Amino acid sequence: MARLHDPEHRGFASDNYAGVLPEVLEAVAEANLGHQGAYGADAYTAALAERVRELFGEAAQAYPVFNGTGANVVALSAVSDRFSAVVCADTGHIHVDEGGAPEKVAGLKLFVVPTAGGKLTPEAIAAAVPDRAGDEHWAQPRVLSVAQSTELGTVYTPDELRALAEYAHERDWLLHIDGSRLANAAASLGTSLRAITTDVGADVVSVGGTKSGLLGAELVLVLNPGAARGTAYVRKLSMQLASKQRFLAAQFLALFEGDRYLRVAGHANAMARLLAELVGAIDGVTITQSVQSNAVFAELPRAASERLMDRVPFYFWDEIRGEVRWMCAWDTTEADVRSFADLVRAELA
Ligand SMILES: Cc1ncc(COP(=O)(O)O)c(C=O)c1O
Repeated sequence: MARLHDPEHRGFASDNYAGVLPEVLEAVAEANLGHQGAYGADAYTAALAERVRELFGEAAQAYPVFNGTGANVVALSAVSDRFSAVVCADTGHIHVDEGGAPEKVAGLKLFVVPTAGGKLTPEAIAAAVPDRAGDEHWAQPRVLSVAQSTELGTVYTPDELRALAEYAHERDWLLHIDGSRLANAAASLGTSLRAITTDVGADVVSVGGTKSGLLGAELVLVLNPGAARGTAYVRKLSMQLASKQRFLAAQFLALFEGDRYLRVAGHANAMARLLAELVGAIDGVTITQSVQSNAVFAELPRAASERLMDRVPFYFWDEIRGEVRWMCAWDTTEADVRSFADLVRAELA
């Protein structure tokens, strides 16, 4: 098959625009020969279960799925009842970017809390979600869902997550972490994955892989098996059970080899920091969010953004304010960042 694009063409639209880590493609090819049991009855899924226990603790159970929305739907459904509600940030991917899947597929009501910088706090939740436990007229909150890193590129510290877990558990809620970019958060904090999940008291986690350079695989990670019921059944009925699951597991095995997941995420974070430093110094550009992972949010004159978008892919995050989001990926190079900063400088000169 002929290549249909310029292999040197990279932009800042999304970490999903990036290709696949070569080691992951090799792992998929390696897993390709011979027959293996379907639906998870294969050697790669078994090896991944073991690796996940090493990374997240003995109780951790991993359920590979196809995508992040599916991971969130399965994770939230597995720990909820039909009458449950989920508390999340106003910026939450589950609220604004999943086409209503948590409501429509999982059937869960979302209580949305206004946040600053995409981060929930116990105080913000208390101010937005009244205590109506036991009131049959009120959908009963069962899950507090936070994104780590957040949709605005910010990162919760382990203490902040612990405080949220305590707040949730005191009310008999559970803590779900949407870890679509969990590795970016761990790399940013200099912690292990375990330190921001198991050790802070999270009950269920959606662990991202695609944004870290997988072809397409995420995990539903159950850390509190007593709280999750029928996760395997929920995954199947949510259409997230892969028949050839060995290829999802093989991708994660490659990502979790040594500390590759931290290195690739740390690289993307470093590129975002460099980009923020270079463009933040340009007159006419305001960096609008604290740069703590692989995302840079900025405001600049709308016409300049539009002309830049014609040359390098990225898009408006907030159309009304003209705020843009620049994402760095595992394959973003320092040269990409420097030449983009030069373009922005020339555009605003
Ligand atoms: C915070 C967050 N959660 C979940 C997802 C899952 O997305 P998808 O269903 O596109 O894999 C994304 C993707 O952008 C995300 O940013």
